[in-house]
Amino acid sequence: MAFSTPIWLGAIMLMAIQCLTGAQALHCLSDFDCIVDIGGADDKFFTPVTQLPPTTVQVLATGSPGKYCTTLERDVRPSSQPFPTEIVYATFEERIGLLHPGFPHLDIAPYSILISNSTCYYKEEPCPGLPHVEETRVAPWLRPKSTSVLGTFTVTVTKTRSRTDCTPYPITGSQSKLFPTGTASLYPFPTTTLSHSSPASSGTSIPRPPVMSGQNVFEPISTDPIPANIPARNDHPLQKKNIWDTPGPVSTNKFYANFFIGSQANYGFVHPYAVGWAKGSAPVKSDGLVISHIEADKLAFGNKSDTIPGNPVQCYINPIGIQAMILSASELDNSTVLSVSKPLAFSADIILQPQSNSTSNVTFPLVQGMGFVTGVYTNLQPAIQSGVFFRELASAAPPRPGIFKYRISLENSTTWLIYVTPENGADPKLELVDNGLIRGPTGFKGTIQIAKNPKGGAGETIYDRSAGVYATAANMTGAVSASDKRGSYKLAWEKAGKDVNSTQLLMFALPHHVQSFDTATQGMKTDMLMRTTTKGMATACVGDSWTMVEEDLPIDIGFAPQILGSGTTDLSEAAKQKIKEVAPNELSQDIHQQTNLDSMYFSGKALAKFAMLVYTVRELAQDIPLSESPFQTLKDAFKTFVDNKQKFPLVYDEVWKGVVSSGTYETGDPGLDFGNAFYNDHHFHYGYFILAAAIIGHFEPSWIDANKVWVNMLVRDAANSVSGDALFPFSRGFDWYNGHSWAKGLFESIDGKDQESTSEDTMFAYAIKMWGKTSGDASMEARGNLMLGILSRTLNNYFLMKSDNVNQPKEFIGNKVTGILFENKAEHTTYFGANLEYIHGIHMLPLIPSSGYTRSKDFVREEWDAMFSEQASTSASKVQGGWQGVLYANLAIIDPTASWNFFAQEPFDLAKVDGGASRTWYLAYAAG
Ligand SMILES: *[C@@H]1O[C@H](CO)[C@@H](O)[C@H](O)[C@H]1NC(C)=O
Ligand SMILES: *[C@@H]1O[C@H](CO)[C@@H](O)[C@H](O)[C@H]1NC(C)=O
Ligand SMILES: *[C@@H]1O[C@H](CO)[C@@H](O)[C@H](O)[C@H]1NC(C)=O
Ligand SMILES: *[C@@H]1O[C@H](CO)[C@@H](O)[C@H](O)[C@H]1NC(C)=O
Ligand SMILES: *[C@@H]1O[C@H](CO)[C@@H](O)[C@H](O)[C@H]1NC(C)=O
Ligand SMILES: *[C@@H]1O[C@H](CO)[C@@H](O)[C@H](O)[C@H]1NC(C)=O
Repeated sequence: MAFSTPIWLGAIMLMAIQCLTGAQALHCLSDFDCIVDIGGADDKFFTPVTQLPPTTVQVLATGSPGKYCTTLERDVRPSSQPFPTEIVYATFEERIGLLHPGFPHLDIAPYSILISNSTCYYKEEPCPGLPHVEETRVAPWLRPKSTSVLGTFTVTVTKTRSRTDCTPYPITGSQSKLFPTGTASLYPFPTTTLSHSSPASSGTSIPRPPVMSGQNVFEPISTDPIPANIPARNDHPLQKKNIWDTPGPVSTNKFYANFFIGSQANYGFVHPYAVGWAKGSAPVKSDGLVISHIEADKLAFGNKSDTIPGNPVQCYINPIGIQAMILSASELDNSTVLSVSKPLAFSADIILQPQSNSTSNVTFPLVQGMGFVTGVYTNLQPAIQSGVFFRELASAAPPRPGIFKYRISLENSTTWLIYVTPENGADPKLELVDNGLIRGPTGFKGTIQIAKNPKGGAGETIYDRSAGVYATAANMTGAVSASDKRGSYKLAWEKAGKDVNSTQLLMFALPHHVQSFDTATQGMKTDMLMRTTTKGMATACVGDSWTMVEEDLPIDIGFAPQILGSGTTDLSEAAKQKIKEVAPNELSQDIHQQTNLDSMYFSGKALAKFAMLVYTVRELAQDIPLSESPFQTLKDAFKTFVDNKQKFPLVYDEVWKGVVSSGTYETGDPGLDFGNAFYNDHHFHYGYFILAAAIIGHFEPSWIDANKVWVNMLVRDAANSVSGDALFPFSRGFDWYNGHSWAKGLFESIDGKDQESTSEDTMFAYAIKMWGKTSGDASMEARGNLMLGILSRTLNNYFLMKSDNVNQPKEFIGNKVTGILFENKAEHTTYFGANLEYIHGIHMLPLIPSSGYTRSKDFVREEWDAMFSEQASTSASKVQGGWQGVLYANLAIIDPTASWNFFAQEPFDLAKVDGGASRTWYLAYAAG
């Protein structure tokens, strides 16, 4: 391979700063040689390369010799269908080591790259994309050091670096999150969209009394055991490691999962800081905890779109690897072990020990929003390091007796504070050893707290008041008052430290919290703001709990499309007539065939589609006879799942504690069914089943009892209401701090958790609201309403970007939707393709009665004009297949007549309707 090392590295480093997280240089896994058997790759399974031969990389920019490998792209999420390939060999151009879905697949890449310098061949032709597979598939090819090396491979790095690539993994166009085959659907929409107050762009001071009375939203769902026909297994393909004290359920989709999965060296995003185990990484090569805080001017952006109005950048990313501050100890070296303790809904302890059975350790209680990064030391010598380099260390006056304070300025002119609280009260006498190291006393016991200070003296005053104490965990309560459509939720922290009872916590609130603070909580705000990675500016608040109030909850939204204004659900006679004409075709589809699939996602989606279809005919068109036979078949199809007789039955996973598809156990493919077995997307998958159950139960209350245990099991799995359930963790998907769900489960991820489909997130909340109502669980119904209220606010703040959005970078908001929002970056794309109708459609579907509540009219109008109007680059009238139906159903939110006219046209090509929706429902949706 004829390229000079420094240039190559320069290229890699540069790309790393350009959203291409797949291309950072990292140390090789210690147990493997950096050589891959590419010669053995001709077995129909593409075996890509994730590590580079040692000879290719000698020196990092920072000057540390050694073996390096490219970082795997860890944004692992599979696309919908296997993509069989017969690729025999590949090298990667700019995208060395990119990986993700659990099966071989191709990424779309610019044609110029493919034909020119690619050495990827598929059936003797240059690849139609850049191939790669998911990380766990790669591991076997990393040869244990002892085995003989089967061959080396060549890496070509393209010399042209004009392309800034942040498209993660658009798979070729045939991939679609829509149903494989088309059919029709129906979900009406309110013409009178509610005037849901869109979130103000900054904090307000509207008086908001707390509403902690009303229906408790966190009552237990049930204490039923797992149904006997769901077998328990303890052989989950990812065994639980690095968590030593938690036999109970472990949250799989929370901000700290990177600390117990894979390399353990990726960040946890606590806002405003991100923290991660340095694990020997450059530049400092420390084994302590890195504290990262990125200012807006350090963001990296992707290419500008030349078709979207305003030319927004395709992605932005917070650079990873700037080691501003590191909390470590002299004893921590390459034998250091990291374990996770007490992983809870809002917090986890990260523990570093010099060796696995050492009695010394430093414990970091990580809590979302924490104002300081706190290390609790037991018998270690503190070492505080920096890759940005210390300019000055100055001791400052103690804020309280027993707390020692230091001021640090870094070479990039940022100021940080250190508060040391020794257990024995003795002056720790921190010493600046050199510009990269500050040392404390040997055998230290006590806490060290670090905070970045953006506000000089005023900032110090704020930090001083709360120094010495830190949050250790949080607790959630909430209530909804249906009569005034108001709900509230309260985050209260447990805390520890010096003078804990007389000292209030300093915690950072996200913009959506501040907007909905009740009056008392508004009084806790300070004027100190710190940037978060992807959620705008966080506000420092002084207090041990916050109460947030959501007004205007969608209490009155039911199954019918129109609900929002008039209160009537009657369709016009003409609409009913049309629905009765259209429905028989869709009602005659093979319900069993469409619902008994090898995917919980697609099966659930089909069940929900037929349930909504039956609902439309039975209740909106008031034609019970027409709906009767399909209704019976629907119940029968649902029963297949309750009986656990579907293609891949569910199993109860005793390792992490949850209900997962057995498909991955059968096939060994972690990416199967979008990674269901690894806890990806459970709220999406199970939400559709829950919604179908709500509708069936609505028509046949006697059906509920026999099915309630199973349906409630799905609710408990995806978003349990209590933390004391031995079978499931509290709120797996929904993150009550961030105000939305995370879809990514047990996959290591350099950019943290992510979520793509906000509309399926709201579908889950809507589904539990309706199932709560149907099944008589008032707490669940209230919880669904509150979640919808919070989602409406968070989506409008962070995901669905109107032109006045202040939380996302101005270079990015022209995209209108984030695409995939990670904890560390946002990319205007999807996991299954980069067509605009995919990127936007996956934030629209399914169209349900609450869609207009969470997608404001103003937003939908802006999005339509920019993306899908006749003048736009992707006019809806020219979009192909089921996505066209999604766009036109969404249009009903702002223009129901146009939407109706689209679906009412004759002859109508049902291929325009996603197989997971029906034309009948879309008609009712537009008519409602
Ligand atoms: C392919 O490589 C050649 C030789 O390095 C270079 O001249 C050419 O521009 C490259 N083509 C592309 C599309 O990058
Ligand atoms: C200083 O370094 C930190 C590293 O965390 C970075 O976030 C910040 O933007 C830098 N500030 C300046 C002024 O360069
Ligand atoms: C750990 O560090 C020691 C001392 O620096 C070194 O000799 C040893 O090779 C390192 N071990 C590994 C696995 O890197
Ligand atoms: C530490 O633990 C390892 C294995 O976990 C064990 O082999 C070793 O004997 C232990 N050492 C001590 C001093 O307990
Ligand atoms: C870390 O130290 C604390 C304080 O001594 C102790 O309670 C805790 O068990 C230790 N953790 C580990 C993993 O040893
Ligand atoms: C909140 O605290 C109460 C009382 O300590 C506890 O029973 C409950 O499980 C906690 N809830 C959560 C969500 O942690």
